[in-house]
Amino acid sequence: MAKPLQIMETVLRDGHQSLLATRMRYRQMEPMLASLDKIGYKALEAWGGATFDSCLRFLDEDPWERLDNLKKNLKNTPIQMLLRGQNLLGYNHYSNDVVEKFVKHASAHGIGVFRIFDALNDVRNLRVAIKAALECPEKPEVQGCLVYTISPVHTNEMFVELAKELQEMGCHSVCIKDMSGLLAPYAADDLVKKLKAGLDIPIELHTHCTSGFGHATYLKAIEAGVDIVDCALSPFSSDTSQPCTETIVAMLQGQERDTGLDRQAMTPIAKHFLGVKKELIEEFGLKGYFDINVNVLDFQIPGGMLSNLANQLKEAGMEDKYQDLLDEMPRVRADAGYPPLVTPSSQIVGTQATMNVMAGERYKLVPNEFKDMVRGKFGRTPVPVDRDFIINTLKIPADQIIEDCSVEDAKGETFAQFKEEVINKGYLNPTDEDVLSYALFPQVAEEFFKKHYKQITAYKRDA
Ligand code: CO
Repeated sequence: MAKPLQIMETVLRDGHQSLLATRMRYRQMEPMLASLDKIGYKALEAWGGATFDSCLRFLDEDPWERLDNLKKNLKNTPIQMLLRGQNLLGYNHYSNDVVEKFVKHASAHGIGVFRIFDALNDVRNLRVAIKAALECPEKPEVQGCLVYTISPVHTNEMFVELAKELQEMGCHSVCIKDMSGLLAPYAADDLVKKLKAGLDIPIELHTHCTSGFGHATYLKAIEAGVDIVDCALSPFSSDTSQPCTETIVAMLQGQERDTGLDRQAMTPIAKHFLGVKKELIEEFGLKGYFDINVNVLDFQIPGGMLSNLANQLKEAGMEDKYQDLLDEMPRVRADAGYPPLVTPSSQIVGTQATMNVMAGERYKLVPNEFKDMVRGKFGRTPVPVDRDFIINTLKIPADQIIEDCSVEDAKGETFAQFKEEVINKGYLNPTDEDVLSYALFPQVAEEFFKKHYKQITAYKRDA
């Protein structure tokens, strides 16, 4: 029986996060929203990941307002967001009530699909966010992720077990999140078949073209029965981004898994976004394209981070260190217990590798985040980190090694405490959304408040 393949479109989130450092503005999206809404996508990913941070930090936009505007213009297509479980969108773990508040407000502002993942695939970090999303009155779709990686310890069977656990937790669908394009076509065939055999809920595949596998991996996954694939419209596709929407639609036309989507209707939208791409490259001095690099199979840096890293090195005048850094990444990852490399673990491993290379000596400088990861603060690493490395190389006392990360989360700052902090800084009547922005990105949110909330300080508290 013919079952059309569904497409989730990433042009508004991962596309520009992967190729253009997340710099697309709402006003550059707006003219095409009505057209995008008519295509028949399964969902449009538009929020989460780095978009929230980038809105506040670089674009002078309130991310909540952007979401409201998107929702106003997308009447038929659910808006999808990417959420890092107990990390939300920040780089730390948050206490449960902050996670619950965030999910509740995101749903109320229009998120229709919550894609939830944990960088370490530790389900303890997903429980609170999944439960909160399942309880939202708007009834959003709740999607759990397998963060895909390859290492001497990872197998497809392990991913299937994890997916079953996500289904048991109440997830409506499961996504194979392959953030660096590591999933090879035949591995995808095997993994999708096993997931389809072991689970009752839809399976979605998210990949990047970093290694060059992308389109081939999708074709094998489609033949194996994957329900949904993530694609980006041509100007924001390929390289370190997703496979191309129009190509996948054309590839399946007249075939068993025909998407039924109108490729011609995508042409004017793609044309608009090609213009946007040119504007962003020009304005922010970005590179905008990345060569295929099959060595990503060794260094495993996700698309978004690779583009940031390339730009950072360029700014620091250290472009010549690029290869050293790529070589150091897998060594640091092995030391850290083979975490999948995705935000924030990719930043943590990437930063440590950068310091090792720049200092010319390994682990001479060790940021706290790296210490926290190896001592278990963010959850269990796939392989336990060598105690000798923790205690003797990194000089972390044995009593700081953490067995249960959820106990640590409970000690985190509560929503009420964050609110008090915002008020104490002189922003006397913050909305819940302001408090959440501040909880996630304190410094950038405060800078944003300074520009936009001056008038609030004129009021007396409790007035
Ligand atoms: Co991605």
